[in-house]
Amino acid sequence: MTAQPSPWDEDYRRRGSLWGGAPAPLPDIPTDAAVLEIGCGNGKTFEALARQSSRVTAVDISPEAVALARRRPGTAEADLAVADARHLPFRDEAFDAVFLVHIAGHLPLRGRTAIASEAVRVLRPSGTLFFRGFSVEDMRAGKGTETEPWTFLRGEGIITHYFTEAETAELFAPLVAVSVRTHRWRMRVRGEDLPRAEVEGVFRREG
Ligand SMILES: C[S@@+](CC[C@H](N)C(=O)[O-])C[C@H]1O[C@@H](n2cnc3c(N)ncnc32)[C@H](O)[C@@H]1O
Repeated sequence: MTAQPSPWDEDYRRRGSLWGGAPAPLPDIPTDAAVLEIGCGNGKTFEALARQSSRVTAVDISPEAVALARRRPGTAEADLAVADARHLPFRDEAFDAVFLVHIAGHLPLRGRTAIASEAVRVLRPSGTLFFRGFSVEDMRAGKGTETEPWTFLRGEGIITHYFTEAETAELFAPLVAVSVRTHRWRMRVRGEDLPRAEVEGVFRREG
């Protein structure tokens, strides 16, 4: 399927790799597990996943992002594709593990629901889904124009939704919540110590 152009493309084209630094800690994955990362961006998490499993697939709606991710070292065996996460081009129950790292929050409620439903569809019974998204406690929550409850539009035309633990659990309700918790840390910005927070969820599909 050909994805529509997205505001993300312009951002990647202008600024190159938007997401740097070390990826957040990932759970252990068996080396032969079929893994899908939805919304891989320029490949930060994707590269780390490809170090763990030889069967990694990743998609992003932005061709620019996919081109950047393709250059990541150690990912030659992995599959990368441009695709809209709301309509994944994969069969039902194709993956042992699905990762959604800071993607779902960039869609309105309808899009988040579609992504969650697709992520659940492609997860095999007993498979695991890992979610990460910014929390309502994060320092950026409330900045910009509110387009939906706890969803804010900022300069570059990209929205960010800030999650509670309860809504995260609800979003993936067909799955069993193994853990849903808030990870908090502090970030120093112009001499001020500000709160950063993201919701991390691990879910399992009943076998
Ligand atoms: C914050 S970045 C993700 C970073 C990446 N997961 C990582 O761990 O470094 C969000 C990504 O979601 C992608 N995205 C937004 N809407 C999408 C959609 N409907 N389908 C697929 N990807 C989408 C954007 O193109 C962008 O690259």
